[in-house]
Amino acid sequence: MIAVAIFLLFLTETVLCQNACTLTQPDILGPYWIPGSPTKKDAVCDNLPAHDVLVLTGRVLDFDSKCGKGISNVKLDIWQANMQGVYSAGKSSADWYCRAIIFPDNDGNFKISTLFPGRYDDGGYRPAHIHFNVTAPGYPQLVTQLYFKQDTYLSPRDSCQRCRSDSQSLIATVTHVNDIKTYVGNWDIVLSKTTRPRIVTKSSVVRGSYVDIKPHIMQI
Ligand SMILES: *[C@@H]1O[C@H](CO)[C@@H](O)[C@H](O)[C@H]1NC(C)=O
Repeated sequence: MIAVAIFLLFLTETVLCQNACTLTQPDILGPYWIPGSPTKKDAVCDNLPAHDVLVLTGRVLDFDSKCGKGISNVKLDIWQANMQGVYSAGKSSADWYCRAIIFPDNDGNFKISTLFPGRYDDGGYRPAHIHFNVTAPGYPQLVTQLYFKQDTYLSPRDSCQRCRSDSQSLIATVTHVNDIKTYVGNWDIVLSKTTRPRIVTKSSVVRGSYVDIKPHIMQI
């Protein structure tokens, strides 16, 4: 009886904690990060069209205070593909589209206006995703990717086997508003000074590094 009660308590605790405050998992860097992205207020891709715009709000939160406080002085380095699934390469001044450094406010709040990222065919499909390199004084660096709930190419169909499109902490729910012209969604980023996220792979559970700097070579 007592054992059952303790188990139920544990279960409730686990479920509640997971819902309330879950560490954001890292994901691989991929081959497309380049240094020197322009600082922008909120638009990651320039010249946003009147359709397929994604407005993402979120907050960078501190895990050690059970997400009770936002983190200040955060730097978000963001890069993604355009609607055709193509990344800019930084080779000329016009070649920096869909890359931005964005600074959240002192409570960690951010708002990003961007394009709904295109899929690209790399011999299979990657789900639509946006890359983040999150740094904040005192916290380990987090390199990760954001995915979208409705995407049919999330893991196990993701063509990138090592990517983490199976992690709930990386999947945002977005909804269409404004006559189906705009997607809106919310995604919080949770960092810890003391705890590293548990990296769960299909075959093992390891405590890993936040940053995987090995380039992910797209398979042709
Ligand atoms: C991520 O951001 C940090 C802080 O700006 C920077 O030092 C680092 O080079 C960036 N990129 C990667 C891949 O770590």
